[in-house]
Amino acid sequence: MARRATAVLISGSGSNLQALLDAARDPGYPAAIRLVISNRPEAFGLERARRAGVPAVVVDHRAFATREVFEAEIEAELRTAGIELVCLAGFMRVLTAATVERWRDRMLNIHPSLLPAYRGLHTHARVLADGAAVTGCSVHLVRPELDKGPILVQGVVPVLPDDDPERLARRVLEVEHRAYPRALAMLAGGRVRVEGERAILLDERPGERLILHPSLAR
Ligand code: GAR
Repeated sequence: MARRATAVLISGSGSNLQALLDAARDPGYPAAIRLVISNRPEAFGLERARRAGVPAVVVDHRAFATREVFEAEIEAELRTAGIELVCLAGFMRVLTAATVERWRDRMLNIHPSLLPAYRGLHTHARVLADGAAVTGCSVHLVRPELDKGPILVQGVVPVLPDDDPERLARRVLEVEHRAYPRALAMLAGGRVRVEGERAILLDERPGERLILHPSLAR
């Protein structure tokens, strides 16, 4: 099967981008990372793309008067590269409904919480403030409403007594790096069907949509 041409949009470190690049090095992986776009010129993820030999461009939101023209530039880059699927990976700009609808069921996002809990920013601090025992990450199809949409894969992480937001974020990233490649493989492999606001995974194996942090394995 032809590998689906995929773009990854980033704003920062790009450790999730790295996980996707690493997974896509396997010729049997159903997606190929063909383009990286960052809205921040200093994002380290740009360097990761260069090291992997993947074209990387900066579309700096500060250079555009409106979100519409900023996104038109992103759209032009995606079209020129023949992109079929888009992964938001720590991309910290909210996209307009028009862009999201154009990529309906072809755009993924990763969010560092167990959705639908803790949508929005500062998830780890909020989890700690609530005294939750468990948190994690979710990879979902993007809808116009922030951090909402059919969920493909979730990763589960324990909250430990002496956690601070940084330590918890690092533990959640460990499962993010496994969840995102798995979710992209599901979508690129044509295994996802959307019914209402729910993603159905064709030929789902038990536990396939769930990743446990290693410390939870017994
Ligand atoms: C990740 O934890 C991702 O889930 C989060 O930003 C981090 C990016 O890390 N995304 C959001 O908070 C989006 N609302 P990375 O640049 O190392 O992949």
